[in-house]
Amino acid sequence: MQGGVRTFEGIIIIITEASKMRIFTCLLKNANPKIEYYSRFSPSPLSIKQFLDFGRDNACEKTSYMFLRKELPVRLANTMREVNLLPDKLLSQPSVRLVQKWYMQSFVELLDYENRKPEDCEALNDFLELLIEIRNRHNNVVPTMAQGVIEYKEKFGFDPFISSNVQYFLDRFYTNRISFRMLINQHTLLFGDDTNPAHPKHFGSIDPACSVAEVVSDAYDTAKMLCEKFYLDAPELKIEEFNMKAPKRPIQAVYVPSHLFHMLFELFKNSMRATVELHENSEQGLPPIKAKVTLGKEDLSIKISDRGGGVPLRKIDRLFNYTYSTAPTPSLEPGSVPLAGFGYGLPISRLYARYFQGDLKLYSMEGVGTDAVIYLKALSSESFERLPVFNKSAWRHYTTTPEADDWSNPSTEPRDASKSNFKAKR
Ligand SMILES: Nc1ncnc2c1ncn2[C@@H]1O[C@H](COP(=O)(O)OP(=O)(O)OP(=O)(O)O)[C@@H](O)[C@H]1O
Ligand SMILES: [Mg+2]
Repeated sequence: MQGGVRTFEGIIIIITEASKMRIFTCLLKNANPKIEYYSRFSPSPLSIKQFLDFGRDNACEKTSYMFLRKELPVRLANTMREVNLLPDKLLSQPSVRLVQKWYMQSFVELLDYENRKPEDCEALNDFLELLIEIRNRHNNVVPTMAQGVIEYKEKFGFDPFISSNVQYFLDRFYTNRISFRMLINQHTLLFGDDTNPAHPKHFGSIDPACSVAEVVSDAYDTAKMLCEKFYLDAPELKIEEFNMKAPKRPIQAVYVPSHLFHMLFELFKNSMRATVELHENSEQGLPPIKAKVTLGKEDLSIKISDRGGGVPLRKIDRLFNYTYSTAPTPSLEPGSVPLAGFGYGLPISRLYARYFQGDLKLYSMEGVGTDAVIYLKALSSESFERLPVFNKSAWRHYTTTPEADDWSNPSTEPRDASKSNFKAKR
């Protein structure tokens, strides 16, 4: 029999799957007013400097507990209200329902701590364990949600209004998830046993002196391994640094190295694929990928330039659409890491850059190559979390149909001049 055995004041209770389901449904009913309540609060954005100062100056577990037991439900409730605005046909896809169930379960479990006092050591320990459980539960949110969108598109086809809403929603939903994990990681790394001995100078997930060029090299090396596995070759890397603030000194950032690694790894994979595909049979060999790291007063910028043939201007925006990819769909075998094919690399990387007030932009010259630039804030006091808020303007996005275009727009695809009778008519 599936289920579990629990003891409650000496009485043995056998919990079957069916009764578990009933308990959960009952919890859901009670949770709805709570979701409504917490979603009325806007999330409180923190800066990297605030995260760092808190971790450095005798971090207090009780203070963190008191902040998170409200802030986490607020962030969850904000996003859960927005999920409900998605079209019913999308909400009814099994993968989307599974994601919703995970969010609901985590929300309900966090509510247990509304009235548990910070002086209660057991509450602090239980809370820490719960955060780890929640983090694990939400590990597969991105591919599962992606699956839901694919299921929906396969069944109901493409609708431009719904697609733009889904794009708007996913940007906000995944940003919320990045922020949620950031808060959980800070707490569990500062107060739990999972401190990383390899990085004793990090405060939680933040490196106060992150060598940007080192992360660039690490991301390049990892992408190179993948590229060599697929193509048996990979372009070289050339790195340059321009430190306007302290010339000739290596550029350091106060940043989350794992976020930076994620963005750079995605950009290198893309540049490598484009380079190898275009120059595979060239006698001159593969042109190198160039990385330029610059530090100014306001911006820390990292440019990754390739000679992979570029992308026409018309298509640049769509590269940031979820599931847009020109690579064959990769296999989902456990343990296999594809070089490309999900169409999530660029949009998710841009969310990481924007999360701390930066950005990611692509500048391409068709026929030559692409420059991808990651912009970060040079000052950690300006790197505030950029968080979605569930409010009237968000709600309007889902409910208002777009108005007619106020610019002429004869066709989105270029006209094939050879088939046109335009000339003949003239
Ligand atoms: N440097 C580049 N040069 C040429 N085309 C590019 C470059 N970067 C991205 N693209 C195009 O943009 C598409 C989307 O890129 P994205 O990284 O989002 O997805 P992907 O690489 O196809 O899959 P994955 O999610 O595995 O990264 C790519 O399929 C490719 O066609
Ligand atoms: Mg990619």
